[in-house]
Amino acid sequence: MEDLKQQAGERAAELVTDGMKVGLGTGSTVHYTLLALGRRVQEEGLDIVGVPTSVRTERTSLEVGIPLGDLDELGRLDITIDGADEVDPHLNLIKGLGGALVREKIVAAHTRELVIIVDSSKMVEVLGTRSPLPVEVFQMGHKRLHSALADLGCAPALRMDDDGSPFVSDNGNHIYDCRFERIPRPHDLEMEINNVIGVVQNGLFLDMATRVVVASASGVFIKRR
Ligand code: 5RP
Repeated sequence: MEDLKQQAGERAAELVTDGMKVGLGTGSTVHYTLLALGRRVQEEGLDIVGVPTSVRTERTSLEVGIPLGDLDELGRLDITIDGADEVDPHLNLIKGLGGALVREKIVAAHTRELVIIVDSSKMVEVLGTRSPLPVEVFQMGHKRLHSALADLGCAPALRMDDDGSPFVSDNGNHIYDCRFERIPRPHDLEMEINNVIGVVQNGLFLDMATRVVVASASGVFIKRR
């Protein structure tokens, strides 16, 4: 599995060219993209500026020597490379098991090309069948949101850290992992969830990905929208 993540991550790094403004996703697959981009910056003098989607990605990017910039200063990005937890046949996604969905969605919304990197186990026919849907919520009154989210047809579970305290995102919020059996109408659900007062954003990334790099036992292939 680790090998497949590495193949997908490194293949996506090859799509980056000189002068690009690059959104840098979060997660164990993107980690390999960051390492590869860092090597290209050091060895080839690749001239890029990255926008990180998490504190973790910012730290790694600085360690490997990727120059970083600010989304507000840079404007529209050329390419963003990010992982996902599920990908359906329309290239719609569930993201956020890594806890960075809000910044990832902001960066994805301001990029020309969103390239998703996954191993083949994350390809599904219907969203929600493999992964829970992460929903980031404000801390204030978050317990009141449990029933509002459950009313949408899921079993919401407050994400916990290893020490038994609720997980806190880079934005200071909590996350509910909402287990649906399946999500047949993701566009409707996205609006319904975001209409719940106290919800910051949910992990449905719809009509955003332009390419998905899939690493499987038989090789790496690319799906385009
Ligand atoms: C973080 C994410 C990640 O991209 C997603 O969870 C996939 O991570 P990994 O590559 O570690 O499986 O959405 O918020």
